[in-house]
Amino acid sequence: MLASELKDTTVAGDRIDQLVAGHRPGHGLARAFYLDPEIYERDLERVFRRHWHCVAHESAIPNANDFEVFRMASEQVIVTRTASGEIHAMLNVCRHRGAEVCTKDKGNARAFVCPYHAWTYGNDGALKAARLMPKDFKREDHGLKKLNVRVVEGLIFISFAAEPLDFSEVERLLRATCGQYGWGSAKIAHRQSYAIDANWKLAVENYVECYHCGPAHPEYSETHALEQPLHLIEELNARMEARTCALGIEVASGNHWQNSTGGKETIHAFRYALYDGVQTGSKDGQALSTLMGRFTDFDGGVTSIHLGGTTFLVCYPDHGMIYRFIPKTAETSEMELIWLVDGKAEEGRDYDLEKLTWLWKVTTDEDKAIIEHTSRGVRSHYFVPGPIAPMEQNELRYINWYLDEISRPA
Ligand code: FES
Ligand code: FE
Repeated sequence: MLASELKDTTVAGDRIDQLVAGHRPGHGLARAFYLDPEIYERDLERVFRRHWHCVAHESAIPNANDFEVFRMASEQVIVTRTASGEIHAMLNVCRHRGAEVCTKDKGNARAFVCPYHAWTYGNDGALKAARLMPKDFKREDHGLKKLNVRVVEGLIFISFAAEPLDFSEVERLLRATCGQYGWGSAKIAHRQSYAIDANWKLAVENYVECYHCGPAHPEYSETHALEQPLHLIEELNARMEARTCALGIEVASGNHWQNSTGGKETIHAFRYALYDGVQTGSKDGQALSTLMGRFTDFDGGVTSIHLGGTTFLVCYPDHGMIYRFIPKTAETSEMELIWLVDGKAEEGRDYDLEKLTWLWKVTTDEDKAIIEHTSRGVRSHYFVPGPIAPMEQNELRYINWYLDEISRPA
């Protein structure tokens, strides 16, 4: 590294550390955290490349040799299923001179031939052929860079880290939550991407609190109990837990939280009740699809999981939601929503796609709008973050978690 680069890095590092130190406890993040390219680079280093990300449900690549390319920040990741059914993730970067090896977004292929000089990689990433290279060239040393992969309850997770965060508690909690809802044998009913004109944290922060749900989400508020007094929420939750228990199902109840300071992946899992008589997240509260997993009836509950820095999961007894938050640039991001139903459910017979997707489409259109309203406001030179409300306790925890993550060296 040149001395000038070292100096710049240090100056940027000091500046970011000062911004973190200047954070006012109990308040939102200062505007630099949503605009500054150097903070964005640190986010990528210490959040994006440290944590696990859910990229898809495995039904996105159901057949032998299926693949899909996922674009996240400046990275492209090819996720494949080999002929033997194993799932691999690798960077779409040729080990010769760096060209994109895979030029299609998705498809079915046993091998990827680089369009530049035709180095050929198997769909497990191994370099199979490299034309006209010297005799001592070692193909085995030039496979595509592999990423860590875990598949749990049908969810494909990847990590860029050389030493990935311990995933065991996450796995246990996913089995105790998504596993009860049968996500391992679910299938994708619909996927939708939303371009967000805002830093990725403004999108995530919007999803960790429901202080905004009353004013911003009239449709969602019809079925999801939000701004009730605490004792009423507790009563609703107790009735939900009794119904779940009567079904003979134990979904990890209570509030589970694990930080990543001990080298383990972060997870927050919790349950909450819908209004009495509401079965699922639909327009009229009535069922949307066939029951999933161990559910033989509706329990009127929702299980919510926030995992790592970019993955949110929501389980209803008849469908599931995956939310992916994808950084793009310092001031832009993307969200992908994935709707899951039981693997045997058939569109038209067991579910109506329009009804299934109605609630989270209308809610996400509203969320995109408020995230972008906030982004435009935060760009003001005069923006000063205000106090976090008591109802935003998860937002407060998120902010503290985030500041801790970017303060710890990679
Ligand atoms: Fe891929 Fe040359 S860059 S073969
Ligand atoms: Fe919202």
